[in-house]
Order: sequence, then structure tokens, then C-alpha cells
Amino acid sequence: EKGGYEHFMLKEIFEQPKSVHDTMRGRLLVDEGVIKMAGIWDYIEKFKNANRIIIIACGTSWHAGLIGEYLIEEYARIPVEVEYASEFRYRNPIITDKDVVIAISQSGETADTMAALKLAKEKGAFIYGICNVVDSSIARITDAGSYTHAGPEIGVASTKAFTAQLTILTLIAFKLGKHNGNLGNAEFMSLIAELDAIPRKIEDVLATTHELVQNIAKDFVSATNFLYLGRGYNYPAALEGALKLKEISYIHAEGYPAAEMKHGPIALIDENMPIVIIAPKKGHYDKIVSNVQEIKARKGKVIAVVNKGDTQVSAMADYVIEIPETSECFSPIVASVPLQLLAYYIAVYRGANVDQPRNLAKSVTVE
Ligand code: M6R
Repeated sequence: EKGGYEHFMLKEIFEQPKSVHDTMRGRLLVDEGVIKMAGIWDYIEKFKNANRIIIIACGTSWHAGLIGEYLIEEYARIPVEVEYASEFRYRNPIITDKDVVIAISQSGETADTMAALKLAKEKGAFIYGICNVVDSSIARITDAGSYTHAGPEIGVASTKAFTAQLTILTLIAFKLGKHNGNLGNAEFMSLIAELDAIPRKIEDVLATTHELVQNIAKDFVSATNFLYLGRGYNYPAALEGALKLKEISYIHAEGYPAAEMKHGPIALIDENMPIVIIAPKKGHYDKIVSNVQEIKARKGKVIAVVNKGDTQVSAMADYVIEIPETSECFSPIVASVPLQLLAYYIAVYRGANVDQPRNLAKSVTVE
């Protein structure tokens, strides 16, 4: 059932060209220049008239939500807030019937997310679900929703569900933006053509980085700390990279927006601190270059995820992982793949049980 892979997690990482494609199947109609999503279309007035969208989730799904905020604000110009479901439900939040609340949950069973949704519903908000598990509790209680269609995810560490969530959020942002006129037709057409190419880019990343990342992982088996840095859309990707590593390898890791480094974490940097830095060409590249300079001046070990043909960051980095170029808004989908592999191989070399990490459950049905 693991399809020849040693673990479900590795199988699921390798399934991503297909799962991302499945998420878009029947929805992204590139030739017709249309995004079809019944869940959005049937309630388009709700979205159009919304004062704001509030995204609630936990863990990896919350990271997807942060990227959703960037996407929806950039392309649909609707204000978005992202909250941990556990915080939202206990702080008497201000919610009205002008709010749209989107819950993101792979399992559709997360207790805090479920409770937060119930609260939002009581207060009159329109509630929307982005779930992977069909007919799950969250899928059933929401007014409408979109399934991610990533297929069953067995590994406790979420991988393909995350990239599927990003894909759905991208589709929603583009659909809303096109509809409300904030995303012009020419840009819409070029973005959807690029989105359509993402499964092939993931395939490319898997083929070209798998062995390399496996080798890099060997050098970090004894690491005790890791920092993950990114800017813009790749800041949440850094958070997600760090979460993957801590969950399955039990190495302490923190994700930060790269510019926040100088507000504290820079004090941690010495020759023993590995720093994963996501530095694609599109997306604050020059700023990232200076962040890498700051790290190298303190002898930190840099593992850089860059675009093919990169020179500046690559010249300074200790390890270079190349990924294909894409628009900034799609880069977390592509950049997450080598970070998943890195966490996976470090954990495997440490002898950890990657599919069933200690203390963790696939569905967190208690608060
Ligand atoms: O099923 P959900 O998406 O609601 O789960 C939320 C988190 O429990 C989950 O993402 C958790 O952080 C994963 N183990 C991350 O890999």
C-alpha cells in the first residue's frame, strides 16, 4: 500500500504532481479561461459583499491559511485575517453576518477548528470549508466548501494535503479577483497558464533534488537547532518547513520572516546553526541576498533554495537546492517540496518513525 516507498510520507511527497493536478481537475479550465468552483460560485454574493474573510485552522493548515491571506488580499483585494482556531474560539472575537469564515482542515475533524466554526456560525458568519477528507465533520457543518481532492494522507506529517490547500486557495483568490474586477483578464490568463504548469514543476523538483537533498540531510543528522527563513509568500513556507522538521526529526526548528532575524534570532547564529533560506528570484530577492550576507558574516551554515541559474545567493550558500522559476504566488508550492524531503531524510537518518512521530496523532479530535 506504500507503493514501493519506505514510508507513506515519502509516497505522499512523490504524489504531489498528481495530487496538485487532481485538486485543479475540472476546476481550472485553461483553454476556456475559466475557474469553475461551485462552492464559490453559488455563494459569490456572500464573498463579494464580505467585509472581510477570516481563515481559521491549526498547524500546517494554518500555514496554508497565511499564504491564503497573501493570495486573496493581492488578487481579490478582500481583507483577510488568519487565526489559530484555538485562539479564535476562546477570545470572544468580533464576527458579524458580513464576515466569511473559511476553515482549512485536512482531516475535517480537528476539534479546535470545529469549535471555532460553530462559534462563527452562531454569530451569523457564512462558513466555508476547505477539507481533504470527504464527508468529514467540518465538511458537513459548513455552509459550502471545496474539497482538496489530494487523496488519503496517511503520514502524520502533512505534505500533499498542504500543497493541495495552497492550490485551492490560489484558485479561490483568482476566481474572486477575476469576478470582482481586481484581477484583469490578461493577468488572470497568464497566471492560470502558469498554475497549470505547477504539477510539471513539482515533478521536475522531485527528479532533480531528491538525491541531492538526501545527501544534504546526512550532514545534519546531529543538528540540534535549525532556522528557516523566507520573505513574502515564502515566509509561511519557512514556518511549514520548520514544522515538518520538528514533527518528524525532533530537532528544534523555527521559521521566521527573514527580515525579523535582526530583531532577535540573529543572536543565535554561529557556525553550528543551520539556516534554510528560501530565496527564489521573484520575491524580495535583493533583500534576501543581504540577509544571507548577514548570516555568513556570523558563520551560519546556509542551505539555500534558489531558482535554477542563481548566482548571488548560491555563491554564498554552503548548500544549494535549485528549483524552477515561477510567479512568487506559486513559489511556496514548489519550494515546499525539497523542504519536505529534507525533513524526511534527516528524520530517517536519525532512525525516527516518520509516519507516526511520537506524541502526535493524524487527527487532533480533542482540544
Ligand atoms: O486535519 P487538520 O488539517 O485540521 O490538522 C491540523 C494540524 O493538526 C496538522 O496540520 C498538524 O500540524 C500536522 N501534523 C502537520 O504536519
